[in-house]
Amino acid sequence: MSNLQYSQLHAGKPVRVEVDGEWVCVAKVGDEVFAIDDTCSHSDASLSEGEISGFKIECWLHGAEFDLRTGEVLTPPATQNVQTYLIDRDGDALTIKKAN
Ligand code: FES
Repeated sequence: MSNLQYSQLHAGKPVRVEVDGEWVCVAKVGDEVFAIDDTCSHSDASLSEGEISGFKIECWLHGAEFDLRTGEVLTPPATQNVQTYLIDRDGDALTIKKAN
């Protein structure tokens, strides 16, 4: 579980947080917040350093794209989806948890 504040997030600027020992990429799109594994499923690159366009995030290393809503891989060279995380919002407080 990780706590983060909604007001700390800015659209187009994902952040990396630790949730239960795993690195998670948290991204704001419009008013919504999404969380997926931070490590690209292709190799060891941090997705929170990637570019967001719409609901997609692009890995900065080789350009694989993932859907922030589902973790689905959309563009090679990655072939495996990444995990999504649950986000609870209570006012400004965001709680990020692993999905069971
Ligand atoms: S490490 Fe992300 S596309 Fe290669």
